[in-house]
Amino acid sequence: MNKAYVLDRTERELNRLDLQGIIYRDATRRALTDCGIATGMRVLDIGCGSGDVTRLAAELVGPSGSALGIDMDAESVQSARARAAQLGIGNVAFEEGEAGSFAEPGTFDALTGRFFLMHQPSPAQTLAEAARALRPGGVIMMLESHMAGLLDTQHSFPHSEIYDEVVRWKCRVVAAAGADIEAGLGLYRIFQAAKLPAPDLRMEAPVGGGADSLIYRYMAESVRSMLAMADSHDIRGFGAENAEQLEENLRNSVVSSDGVLVCWPVVSACCQLSGAAA
Ligand SMILES: C[S@@+](CC[C@H](N)C(=O)[O-])C[C@H]1O[C@@H](n2cnc3c(N)ncnc32)[C@H](O)[C@@H]1O
Repeated sequence: MNKAYVLDRTERELNRLDLQGIIYRDATRRALTDCGIATGMRVLDIGCGSGDVTRLAAELVGPSGSALGIDMDAESVQSARARAAQLGIGNVAFEEGEAGSFAEPGTFDALTGRFFLMHQPSPAQTLAEAARALRPGGVIMMLESHMAGLLDTQHSFPHSEIYDEVVRWKCRVVAAAGADIEAGLGLYRIFQAAKLPAPDLRMEAPVGGGADSLIYRYMAESVRSMLAMADSHDIRGFGAENAEQLEENLRNSVVSSDGVLVCWPVVSACCQLSGAAA
């Protein structure tokens, strides 16, 4: 069983995941490509949510390959299926299931996951179990945010007080809900504990400014998504009303100073299992 999921499960939350998918798409595509995910592979994407990483993997493996996304949440699976159908992507499928115990051993060439291990009570165990789905020589690419990386560091230029409040509030709520705000840099340790080969790691962070940056809406939607969780842990700071104003307030504070914001840094970890290539 995983912990209580930190975010809500509404259509709005699925839209927030889409927004997150756009912000982190380039970093994710680079990580998948650099990890060797390529034409003809069969990819298993664990904790797929609305299917953004699964669709990216499907694009990289092409029609001779396939990508299967799994998620324990039925609504996410439905939404992922609907989005794939809408986009006419034929080489993806989505199933409801538990990441660690889903697939037949040895049936996939690659295992992927994004913003997933941070929600697991025993991430190394879940990863080790999911990795059994891989054939010898298969590859693993996990990408996690390192939210703690924005605490006590320069997250905005010039310094934005309101962004500082958002960063601190979100880190508190996510940590209180039991998710790991240090999962990104923790990936090396997780791979080691899962008895996997030491991964190659990379850290990067989107930076945005100007009126059109998506970071304002993404941060505001995330705050809205976490209000119920914050309430249940008695964490004050944002309520329904100022959450509605937050996107505009963030935009105004940044645009009026020709400033920029640093979004959550993400770390990708990639390794290849020993054994014969396909
Ligand atoms: C933050 S979302 C990330 C979704 C997607 N990977 C992305 O990057 O957009 C985490 C997802 O993992 C799913 N999840 C969490 N623990 C799981 C588990 N043990 N087995 C399957 N799905 C799980 C949740 O239901 C949720 O949809």
